[in-house]
Amino acid sequence: MLPTQITSFEHYQSEYARSVNDPEGFWAKQASTFNWRKKWDHVLEWNFEEPNIKWFQGGKLNITENCLDRHLATRSQQTALLFEPNAPGDPARHISYRELYEEVCKTGNALRELGIGKGDRVCFYMPMVPELAISVLACARIGAIHSVVFAGFSAQALADRVNDADCKMIICSDYNKRGNKNIGVKEIVDEALAIGCPSVQTVLVHRNTGEEIAWDESYDVWYHEKVDGQAAECPAEEMDAEDVLFILYTSGSTGKPKGVVHTCGGYMVYTAYSFLNVFQYQPGDVYWCTADIGWITGHSYIVYGPLLCGATSLMFEGVPTYPDAGRFWEVCAKHKVNQFYTAPTAIRALMAQGDEFTEGYDLSHLKVIGSVGEPINEEAWEWYKKHIGKDTVPVVDTWWQTETGGMMISGMGGHSPQKPTFAGYPLPGIQPCLVDKNTMQEEEGNPAAGLLAIKFPWPSILRTTWGDHLRCKHTYFSTIPGMYFTGDGARRDADGMYRIIGRVDDVVNVSGHRLGTAEVENAIDEHPQVVESAVVGYPHDIKGQGIYAYVIVGAGAGADDALRAEIVATVRQEIGPIAKPDKIQFVSALPKTRSGKIMRRILRKIAAGEQDSLGDVSTLLNPEVVEELILGRV
Ligand code: WT7
Repeated sequence: MLPTQITSFEHYQSEYARSVNDPEGFWAKQASTFNWRKKWDHVLEWNFEEPNIKWFQGGKLNITENCLDRHLATRSQQTALLFEPNAPGDPARHISYRELYEEVCKTGNALRELGIGKGDRVCFYMPMVPELAISVLACARIGAIHSVVFAGFSAQALADRVNDADCKMIICSDYNKRGNKNIGVKEIVDEALAIGCPSVQTVLVHRNTGEEIAWDESYDVWYHEKVDGQAAECPAEEMDAEDVLFILYTSGSTGKPKGVVHTCGGYMVYTAYSFLNVFQYQPGDVYWCTADIGWITGHSYIVYGPLLCGATSLMFEGVPTYPDAGRFWEVCAKHKVNQFYTAPTAIRALMAQGDEFTEGYDLSHLKVIGSVGEPINEEAWEWYKKHIGKDTVPVVDTWWQTETGGMMISGMGGHSPQKPTFAGYPLPGIQPCLVDKNTMQEEEGNPAAGLLAIKFPWPSILRTTWGDHLRCKHTYFSTIPGMYFTGDGARRDADGMYRIIGRVDDVVNVSGHRLGTAEVENAIDEHPQVVESAVVGYPHDIKGQGIYAYVIVGAGAGADDALRAEIVATVRQEIGPIAKPDKIQFVSALPKTRSGKIMRRILRKIAAGEQDSLGDVSTLLNPEVVEELILGRV
C-alpha cells in the first residue's frame, strides 16, 4: 500500500486542513500503509525545548523491508535502480527489485561478517555507482548507521567526519570517472587514514575502474571478494522507530560541520509521502534526480523515497556537461524520464551554454520537473519551464533542508498554482510561519516577511546532532522560542504562497552546496602567511552565491596572485574544491565593532558592489578601513 496521493488542489487543501487539525490521526493513517513488525504505541511525543521528538514510539520495523521485500510480490522484475554511466556509449544497468533485494542482502551479510552490527557507524566515500545505493541499504538492513560523505570533500574533511562519528568502516571505490576526470578515490581515503582515523578497522573497496591502487593488507578488503559468495537472503535487523538510520554532515554558522541525525520510522513515512505527492509519481514512471547521494537530496529522493514507493529511480554517474551540455536531455529522452529533479545552478550553467543543446531530444515523457537546493531566479525558472517543460510541464520548486529530511514547501506536481521563484504552499503536515527578527513574534496575515520557522513537528525532522544534543538545541530550537528555526528568510504573498529569500545566518549556498563562512575562514587561516580572514557570499550568475574572502597577511608576505593560488590550494586541502574562494582581496584590517566582532554586513555590501548603501559605519572601531576595502575590491 502507498500513502495517500493528492489528486487536485482542493484535495490538497482538505488534506492539509486534516493534517493540522489532527496531526496524529493524519500521520497514523499514512504510517499504516507501511509494513511494521510491531505497531507503534504512540504516534507523537514532543517538545521543542529540549528538543525531544519521537514519532511512532514503540513501533518496530526495518526500512529496507519497506523499500525491497514488500515489493517482491508485485514488482520483482520491475527496474528499481536504472544506472546511467558517465560515458554515453557505455550500457545502462537495469537493476530489478529482485536483484536489488539480493544485492542488498549479500552486502548486508558481508558487512555482518566483517563485524558490523546494529548501531555501528559506517562511512561512505564513493562515486555515484549502484554499489553506493546497495551498500547504504545494506547498512540499513543490518541496523548499522550510514554516514555518507560527498566524494568531493578533501581527505581532511573526510577524516573529521569519520572521527566525529567514530566510524568502524569506510566503504569507497578505487577511482571515480566523472566527465573527463578520473579521481583517485581510494587514495584520498588512504590520506584520511594517514591523518588519523583510529576507529576505522576496515576499508571496503569497490572495484570501479579496476586501475591500480595502493593496498594495505591490514585493513583493505575488496568489496567483490567479500560480497559475491554471500547468501542472497539476509534477515533484517528489527529497528525501533526512533533508532538512528543515518547521520549526514552539514554546515552551519560555526566552524565545525554537524552530523544531522535521522531515525527510521518518521523518515520512512515522510520521504515516501512527500515523494509520491510532489512528483505525482505513477506506477511505471521513470524518475530521475540528478543530485549526489552524498547530499540529503540523494538520500531522500534517489534512494529511500522512490524505493519505498516502488518507483524506478535513475542514478547518474556523470556530469551535466559531458560529453556536452545536452547530456541531461539526452538521458531524459533515452530513458523516457517522467519526473526530473535538479538544482538551479545546473539549470543556469546549461542555460548559459545555449538553447541549442536542449533541441533535438524527445522530452515529451516529462510530467513534472523539479528544482532544489537554492532559490531559483526568475530567468532560470522561465528557461526551465520553456525549454525543458515545453511550457506545459509543471515546475515544482521544492524548499527543504538536510535537517528537515524531506521536502517542506513545494507544489504538488501540476495540482498547485505556479509562480516563478515561489516554492508555494507547505506540504500536508508542515506548519511554517514567518517571525519578526526583532520581536520574535509570528507575523500574521498576508503578505508578510520574516524569519522562516516551523511551529509543529513533522515525521522526518532531525532528532539531534551527533554527539552534541545541546548544539542541536542552540542551533535550531533556541532562536525562536517554541519553534524550529530554519536559518532562512522568506516572504508570503497575498495568497499565502511562500518565497524563500535565502540564509539569514553565516551560511553560504554555492552551487547548491552549503558552507559555513567560519568553516571557510578556518581553512584559509591554515595558510601560514594568513593572519586573519573574513568570508562572505556575493551574487554569482551561475553558482547563485560565490565566495569572497578578505584576507590579512603577515608582514613581508607578497600579497599577489601566487599567494592567492596558495590560499585556494589550502582551502581545497582543508575542505575540498567546492569551498574554494572565487575572489580574494588582501586587506590591512577588517571592519570591527567596538566589541571586536567583524561587521559582515559591510563586507557583504562591498563584495556585492553595493558600496553606496553601506549604512552607518560610524560605530565601527576602525571606520577608516572602509574606504580601503571599497577601493581594493576585486
Ligand atoms: C538550504 C538547505 C534540501 C536539499 C538541498 C539543500 C536552501 C534549499 C531551496 C529552494 C530556496 C532553498 C535554503 C535551505 N534551499 N531548497 N527550493 N528555494 N532555497 O539542502 O544543504 O541542507 O541546504 O538550502 O537556504 O536552508 P541543504
